[in-house]
Amino acid sequence: MKRILFIWTLLLSAFSLQAKTLIVYYSYTNNVHQIVTDLRTQIQADVLRIEPAEEGLDYAANNYAIGSALISAIRKAPGKASSYPPIKTTIRNLKDYDTILIGAPLWWSNMAAPLQSFLFAYGSQMAGKRIGLIVSSASTGISGVEADAKRLIPKGKFLSPSLWIRSSETRKCHSMIARWLKETGLKK
Ligand SMILES: Cc1cc2nc3c(=O)[nH]c(=O)nc-3n(C[C@H](O)[C@H](O)[C@H](O)COP(=O)(O)O)c2cc1C
Repeated sequence: MKRILFIWTLLLSAFSLQAKTLIVYYSYTNNVHQIVTDLRTQIQADVLRIEPAEEGLDYAANNYAIGSALISAIRKAPGKASSYPPIKTTIRNLKDYDTILIGAPLWWSNMAAPLQSFLFAYGSQMAGKRIGLIVSSASTGISGVEADAKRLIPKGKFLSPSLWIRSSETRKCHSMIARWLKETGLKK
């Protein structure tokens, strides 16, 4: 019995040594980038920033015309790959991670379109992984972004609650992140 327990403990510690966290995020005006920069000082994780294929687009010009068109294309046909704007970012080693933290700007109550493109491509490979969601918005509540994440990662094990940081709170995100990491058990 002692021997079995010993082997079991050894296996568990080997697993926890290998358990890795990936932070995936998109940021247009760098609020989420600042949040992720702080998050990286509090946990060990690899980081992937999503880059749209088309550079230099002004999503906010003409009363957010481009951003708005991208979101309405996804809303109209969320199951079609062609509804999602092309991105440059790819990943090969998703299987190495057991926890994925997603940093998302909110666009018109939804998850920013380029991040949705990434999750549309890779969400099915995130089945069974722990998923934590951090959302930045000016003022709109984040339930639409949570719904997008759950649609795009249908078999993810979502941590609760998600973390909502308003853009005006970006500068004081450190303590909000610290509290959230404890609350979700991501940090002891
Ligand atoms: C296309 C677009 C649409 C947006 N729509 C909303 C919105 O509906 N409600 C809101 O509170 N903020 C909205 N925002 C503001 C962003 O959510 C907010 O500035 C966020 O902090 C941006 O994160 P980022 O700087 O990492 O890109 C929008 C921003 C853009 C570019």
